[in-house]
Amino acid sequence: MPSTTQLSELYRPVEDELSLVREEIANLWTDVIRLVNGKSDGVQPVGGKLLRPAMCLLSAGAIGAKNLNRYVSMASAMELLHMAALAHDDVIDEASLRRGKLSLNAMWDNHAAVLGGDYLVARGIGVLSSYDSCDVIANAVDCIRQMAEGELTDFGRGLNGYSLEGCLNLARSKTASLFAVSCSTPCVLRGGAYRDDMHTFGLNVGTAFQIVDDILDLVQNEDILGKPSCGDLIAGKRTLPILYLRDRLDDVDRNRIDSMRGATLTDADRAWVATMLDTTGALQQAIDVAREYSNNGCNALECLPSSHYKSTLLALAEFVLVRGS
Ligand code: IPE
Ligand code: IPE
Ligand code: MG
Ligand code: MG
Ligand code: MG
Repeated sequence: MPSTTQLSELYRPVEDELSLVREEIANLWTDVIRLVNGKSDGVQPVGGKLLRPAMCLLSAGAIGAKNLNRYVSMASAMELLHMAALAHDDVIDEASLRRGKLSLNAMWDNHAAVLGGDYLVARGIGVLSSYDSCDVIANAVDCIRQMAEGELTDFGRGLNGYSLEGCLNLARSKTASLFAVSCSTPCVLRGGAYRDDMHTFGLNVGTAFQIVDDILDLVQNEDILGKPSCGDLIAGKRTLPILYLRDRLDDVDRNRIDSMRGATLTDADRAWVATMLDTTGALQQAIDVAREYSNNGCNALECLPSSHYKSTLLALAEFVLVRGS
């Protein structure tokens, strides 16, 4: 399984700028902690793979930007919007673990976590306003709308709401929209060239990313994920691998899957889910769909000139498929 070491190798073309992003995020995170705790000592590193800011910076490089420092704040804003989505998502999903630590809702409570998420959105938009471009802000706000629409559409539908189109729409709106905006917003500062191509790349890779996230939820353990495993089954989420798995099970086994909603799963339950996913072919079917999206994303970059930035974006389109966390 590819590790974070390999990810940091992939990030090499933008490592200096990404360090500045890390710094910007850490400072802002300290503000959030200080607001709630009244002090900021002992603030833990923020963590996370930094995929969205990395893709933002690489996209800027791939479309020909020479001074990538100009895109550091934009990249930071993408990570802030992502962190806000995570804060809200953990409230919705009642998840107490995030990036290997207590989620905000577990550390504080739902109210503070929601407000913390709102605060991160506000700070993200504030950071973007430094570009003095309505288009940059409008892009981000449209993405926040899509992410919220995705989660709202998903809310409370339960098992009757399973459909292939529904799963893919949800992946696109709640997750891929931010990848699309991370990749396409740099184009706004360069007169709009390649904007649609970068958007298509981000949207497709982001959809593949969410499908793989949904697979990992079922097959990967909590220690490696840094977040709850089988959380989607317990919450009764409609994800693509669960949809494929349910389709391939007989009534007895489908009932077993459905009865996991709201249940406490044993190690044997988890092992059974992973085995069934594999042996029924549902795992491969979901991977194939993710690969198709990833390939479509790569095709959208064909019109870009060759560069190490472009090659790295293509390598990341592969990374999202084979990652272990
Ligand atoms: C997790 O995203 C949330 C989803 C959109 C599935 P990441 O897997 O990129 O989370 P971090 O930033 O690395 O923690
Ligand atoms: C949420 O999807 C995606 C976001 C936009 C935050 P998930 O609920 O699957 O994300 P994880 O698995 O908790 O990271
Ligand atoms: Mg979640
Ligand atoms: Mg969720
Ligand atoms: Mg998930």
